[in-house]
Amino acid sequence: MAAGDPPSVDLLASAAQLADHTQVLAETISRDHPAGVTLVGVLKGSLVFLTDLARKVTVPTRLELLAVAPYDGTAGRTRVVKDLEESIDGEAVVLVNGIIDTGLTADFLLRHLGAAGPSSVRVCVLADKQARRIVPIPIDYAALAAPDGFLLGYGLDYGGRYRNLPDLWVADGSALADDPDRYLAQLYPHRDRTAPSR
Ligand code: IMP
Ligand code: MG
Repeated sequence: MAAGDPPSVDLLASAAQLADHTQVLAETISRDHPAGVTLVGVLKGSLVFLTDLARKVTVPTRLELLAVAPYDGTAGRTRVVKDLEESIDGEAVVLVNGIIDTGLTADFLLRHLGAAGPSSVRVCVLADKQARRIVPIPIDYAALAAPDGFLLGYGLDYGGRYRNLPDLWVADGSALADDPDRYLAQLYPHRDRTAPSR
């Protein structure tokens, strides 16, 4: 790679492949929950995945959303910043995550959901990043194993960017840390570069 060349970004899954993955997961979730299911999406990373998945589930389905503040040194642990709106007492729940990395967020959310009295809680994830797991998480439904690198698109972001890309990409995490906009030109080839940046 010549100096100044952008670092590579690789396609992990196309929109068509993601549609196949969500179809398979939705069929399995439907089979496992014949009486119906409550899908609880973790904002914002699960948003695109959740909406695709939910439309392919063939049993009666409720949707709930949760959001957590990311871990930071000062808070010490995460906290819920947007909680469930309806009771899940007695409900069969599937927690839908965009990506599970260290597992700290999912572990916290599983405890949080467990305290609300569901009849069952299963875990679904778009991308399972096993290599960096700190807390073991029982994953029931996974679309993809995440390779080394930072995943972008299909709901996953870096610093709020790249979420709306219809495909899922693997980028270089250190390049993103240097410049979060690093992949904009490659991944949004039709954007108008003469427009003022916001
Ligand atoms: P965990 O608590 O380490 O499992 O954190 C999971 C969260 O980290 C996700 O919800 C994402 O916000 C973020 N994350 C970790 N790896 C990636 C990635 O490769 N792409 C996008 N977000 C990621
Ligand atoms: Mg994020």
